[in-house]
Amino acid sequence: MANVLITGGAGFIGSHLSELLLQGGMRITVLDDLSTGRRDNIKKFQENNLFKFIEGSILDNELVNKLVQDADIIYHLAAALHVKLILEKPLSALETNIHGTENVLRAAKKRKVKTFIASTSEIYGKNTKQGLDEEDDRILGSPLKTRWGYASAKGIDELFAYLYFKEYGVPIVIARLFNTVGPRQTGQYGMVVPRFVSQALQGEDITVFGDGKQKRCFLHVQDALAAITMLMSNEQAVGKVFNIGNEEEISIEDLAKKIIMMTGSLSRIVYIPYEKAYPDGFEDMQRRFPSVDRLWKLTKWKPTMKIDQILESVIASARL
Ligand SMILES: NC(=O)c1ccc[n+]([C@@H]2O[C@H](COP(=O)([O-])OP(=O)(O)OC[C@H]3O[C@@H](n4cnc5c(N)ncnc54)[C@H](O)[C@@H]3O)[C@@H](O)[C@H]2O)c1
Repeated sequence: MANVLITGGAGFIGSHLSELLLQGGMRITVLDDLSTGRRDNIKKFQENNLFKFIEGSILDNELVNKLVQDADIIYHLAAALHVKLILEKPLSALETNIHGTENVLRAAKKRKVKTFIASTSEIYGKNTKQGLDEEDDRILGSPLKTRWGYASAKGIDELFAYLYFKEYGVPIVIARLFNTVGPRQTGQYGMVVPRFVSQALQGEDITVFGDGKQKRCFLHVQDALAAITMLMSNEQAVGKVFNIGNEEEISIEDLAKKIIMMTGSLSRIVYIPYEKAYPDGFEDMQRRFPSVDRLWKLTKWKPTMKIDQILESVIASARL
């Protein structure tokens, strides 16, 4: 039976991954410092004797080494990713995202443990090409703008992972996740879908930042997990990077309207200029649209859920 270590396994994606792998009969150890993850997310697995939760940090070298010693597979998801956190605690986010990943890879090197690295579409920065592919250029603002710290750190993480593969033969797989949503995601740190859904259900104003014309593509977490697990079981994915996202686009304004309609809410949409929503100099991008051709060619993966179904799932879980 495979021993799987999931860093960040008490978070949104990590807790769904834990659930899926437990259903597949794997032995799971979750390492999470509960900074944005929640005990509630993993409460229902605690009675399963295949599941173990360790509260601790990926920055704790000794602990990471000890846990990796027993692991056959690592899913490295722990990160400081939420816009609010990155803007409010940029240094600590940078340290978590760079040193934490380095610790995991260094530990994986000893026994060449297969490691999944969760990267992000933020990598592409301000590149608004329709159908961003893995070889496209990154367009980032000044490194001194803390807003780009997350993209910069994840870029370093990708390079670290790639070099651990090239130089030490560690079998890594990198995925750039585009906006992933679903039950258990919190709106507390600025994630747009859970924030809008919670505002709509409480009859509060829905706060759209900017003019709402910016577009995004949303993928359901179950579709993301199907892609991640397919990649991890395909030897040809090793040493490579893949986009995981939905090729269906919606503007943030239309998203707000749809959520109001689907929840039957009386909420109004209120537009907040970026200067008020974020500290000085915040730059947003007008669109972020993936090409998932590379992933499709290797695995034949395509998303199964469209935006209405995705929102239904988020709204239903928020009503519980
Ligand atoms: N959700 C998305 O849309 C999205 C998009 C792109 C990339 N990602 C990537 O997917 C991964 C999971 O993100 P998520 O959406 O589940 O967010 P999340 O915040 O729910 O999960 C991150 C988890 O990491 C934990 N964590 C943070 N710092 C830690 C540390 N020092 N030590 C141990 N644990 C720590 C948090 O407590 C949390 O449980 C991240 O690596 C993120 O960069 C997510």
